[in-house]
Amino acid sequence: MSRASLEKKPREVAKMFDGVARGYDRTNSVLTLGYDRRWREMTRRVLDAQPGERILDLAAGTGVSTVAFARGGAWCVAADFSVGMLSSGASREVPKVAADAMRLPFANDSFDAVTVVFGIRNFFDTEAALAEMRRVVKPGGRLLVCEFSQPRFKPFRTVFHWGMKRVAPTIARVVSSNPEAYRYLGESIKDWHSQRGLAEIVAKAGWSDVEWMNLTFGMVALHRAKKR
Ligand SMILES: C[S@@+](CC[C@H](N)C(=O)[O-])C[C@H]1O[C@@H](n2cnc3c(N)ncnc32)[C@H](O)[C@@H]1O
Repeated sequence: MSRASLEKKPREVAKMFDGVARGYDRTNSVLTLGYDRRWREMTRRVLDAQPGERILDLAAGTGVSTVAFARGGAWCVAADFSVGMLSSGASREVPKVAADAMRLPFANDSFDAVTVVFGIRNFFDTEAALAEMRRVVKPGGRLLVCEFSQPRFKPFRTVFHWGMKRVAPTIARVVSSNPEAYRYLGESIKDWHSQRGLAEIVAKAGWSDVEWMNLTFGMVALHRAKKR
């Protein structure tokens, strides 16, 4: 088992994110050369939240995507088990809930959609979390997952993983409050599923109509699905 898998123990993951919370948004933008903004914008467009809809943004961190989803008039809640991350986004005016993806404190069928932006690869049990997300979404409701993925062109994939593993921690040493954490993040990206692999887990968790699109040559993928 890789180190990234071992470190997915919930308590350790929450502690690690508490440690990177200060300056998290800035570090992210520096490490992705500003591409994170494009990926979030694409996620917002694909979600297409409508006024009056109820959206759960899970593993929302500082709520950077949650506020964007709420812009069109949907009611969006940011849920995360790192209180440090939620507090870092205190100035963002969206409701915030401390919650573990494995045991969501929401009733069955209570949301029109659930989103996870750069959070799912940290979950201890991906399939169980996806089933829990399905429980809280209404029949007909949707799932949208934005996550790093496996670039399709092998030389590019090799360079991408090398950069995330070797270069990101070096940059993080300058811009982050907890550079060590970025070693884990690089490894967790390399160990993560392919586009098809994640789609299969989403379907296994009970979601229907699973499909994905690649962003930036497959560096990131957007998976979407429906609850029938
Ligand atoms: C890389 S950050 C992404 C935050 C935000 N969605 C964004 O796009 O910037 C991953 C987030 O997932 C949260 N997370 C990881 N495992 C979780 C779990 N089991 N339940 C709730 N949140 C979790 C972490 O606390 C962290 O805030």
